[in-house]
Amino acid sequence: MKLGINIDHIATLRQARGTDYPEPMVGARLALEGGADFITVHLREDRRHIQEHDVEALLAELPVKLNLELAITTEMVDYACRVKPAECCLVPEKREELTTEGGLDVVGQQAAVIEAVERLTAAGITVSLFIDPSHDQVAAAGRTGATVVELHTGQYALLAEQDGIDAEQSAPTVKERERLFAAAIQATGLGLKVNAGHGLHRQNLQPLLSMPGLDELNIGHAVISRAVFVGLPSAVAELRQLIDNTAN
Ligand code: PXP
Repeated sequence: MKLGINIDHIATLRQARGTDYPEPMVGARLALEGGADFITVHLREDRRHIQEHDVEALLAELPVKLNLELAITTEMVDYACRVKPAECCLVPEKREELTTEGGLDVVGQQAAVIEAVERLTAAGITVSLFIDPSHDQVAAAGRTGATVVELHTGQYALLAEQDGIDAEQSAPTVKERERLFAAAIQATGLGLKVNAGHGLHRQNLQPLLSMPGLDELNIGHAVISRAVFVGLPSAVAELRQLIDNTAN
């Protein structure tokens, strides 16, 4: 299983003071040192953290894949087609939200999703759709031409947090985990690659690691937060060990 580290919040810290530091590029290298397989960034429409120059520096210098998250707007799709990251994950975006709340409504905006997928695929970019683990959204994703889905684990993370760390998972948390697993099985059956992410950290991750067909994880806020105390290579290495020990 591959581990992607989302380094947006290194840029959040930089933008908070308008300084040149901390540099996402340095963070990306440290994440790789800790065992990350690839790097993820979200270029938001309001540019609240990652900027175009970060994306371009990462694309020029990273020895691994860059997964670029973006909203389905003409501006963002044009930009991705121009800079050509290996992979784009299409996400919903609301300016007022603190983070990506809920998955992309592929059912409700199928035509727009299909158009974005077509354009990005024609530019040689692998396209992933960030969706809630619902039967209808997975089925709709299967009709878009995208080859990957990233299942939104935010609801699972929220419920697991309400249960408390180290507590046994409650029935709603287990039910949400089962919903994720069912969505993963459905997606795999449609020939889609399955990734997962949002709200994950070393306390809630393990029960998800047996998700059928799970290929990649994307983890951001919690690992950057943990890095404040233990350093980024160690914070990433903790996740790496958890994943590798569970796989063995
Ligand atoms: N996957 C997607 C598509 C996201 O938008 C985000 C948040 O930017 C993440 C994963 C990572 O979520 P978190 O920062 O909560 O780990």
